Amino acid sequence: MDILVTGGAGFIGSNYVLQVVASGCYGRVVVIDSLSYAANVASLAPVAGAIEFVEGSTADAALVDRLVAGVDVVVNFAAESHNDNSLNDPRPFLESNIIGVWNLLEAVRRHGKRIHHVSTDEVFGDLQLDDPGRFTEGTAYRPSSPYSATKAGADHLVRAWARSFGVRATISNCSNNYGPRQHVEKFIPRQITNILLGEKPKIYGTGKNVRDWIHVEDHNRALEAIVERGRVGETYLIGAECEVDNVTIVRALLRIMGKPEDWFEFVSDRPGHDLRYAIDPGKIVTELGWGPEFQDLQAGLEATVAWYSDNEQWWAAAKTAAEKVYAVIGR
Ligand code: NAD
Ligand code: TYD
Repeated sequence: MDILVTGGAGFIGSNYVLQVVASGCYGRVVVIDSLSYAANVASLAPVAGAIEFVEGSTADAALVDRLVAGVDVVVNFAAESHNDNSLNDPRPFLESNIIGVWNLLEAVRRHGKRIHHVSTDEVFGDLQLDDPGRFTEGTAYRPSSPYSATKAGADHLVRAWARSFGVRATISNCSNNYGPRQHVEKFIPRQITNILLGEKPKIYGTGKNVRDWIHVEDHNRALEAIVERGRVGETYLIGAECEVDNVTIVRALLRIMGKPEDWFEFVSDRPGHDLRYAIDPGKIVTELGWGPEFQDLQAGLEATVAWYSDNEQWWAAAKTAAEKVYAVIGR
């Protein structure tokens, strides 16, 4: 199977490309990425000779049409992915997360190809801390931020193209990922790199917000299972049943990195900040036999800390740029 991976120079996409190449199960692996601020081509260096890399945007309909025509399946990671940025300037989110998906859908429709669309649990909005329920494939959409609203819009487009035009599509909604090669604007790498640079971790609001953490390699193994064995037309929720609040994560990182557990500061809250996400992964576990290999968050965080400690040249420039953005918004 020849595969087109969009957004393959970003966090999850690059880890996916490394995994797919290592598996040896695919033919051509074509990667398109617009090389936005969030991309890092160094992430793909280990497989540079095994992939075809195209710098370009999914918002470019002619380019997308040409690339889709040459493969069997598209896996769509390309997106603007950071909530804080979407509150400052939503426009790029509409361009990548809506127009880009529309172009991909039109191309797979024209050429009769299959698409897997990578989405987020944030389309469902948030849960109360004491809510016994978790998100399932049947949960109603209730996005909070411009980011999650554009991801929700994209999911709806995919379902509409599947139903109205018979496009062969699957969707997955995953919880928060962590692991190597994540941009330092995101919560865990921001705090690790702060600590490495002698800065205190910064926690929004009360720090009681809960995220359902999954290692990026477990997410990508789930995506491989869906691409290989998933039922066309279906949606699969992906999560590792690992709900932890933000203060607890920061305390764990401080412990791992040999600092006092209360060496952090609270900063102003994110407007509209979702309180809690939680995934019920029952469908993908039962139907596709997937399960997370990283069962121990502490071990996963230790490995992630080690990766950022060993790879400062990968993140140093992005760190300076990201902290300038945070300084402007006061967080
Ligand atoms: P990321 O920001 O690290 O990477 C996104 C990549 O897409 C970047 O390399 C960027 O340059 C590229 N890109 C953006 N717009 C593009 C366009 N129009 N054309 C081509 N390339 C474009 O994001 P990520 O964390 O790797 O997320 C990847 C996908 O997974 C996104 O769709 C996101 O919504 C979804 N997701 C992320 C998480 C998470 O925890 N990070 C959880 C669930 C789902
Ligand atoms: P983030 O990594 O931005 O992911 P998302 O908003 O998609 O969940 O943030 C994860 C959680 O961490 C979220 O509750 C916001 C919080 N957060 C902080 O407390 N401090 C920070 O510096 C950042 C970036 C996030």
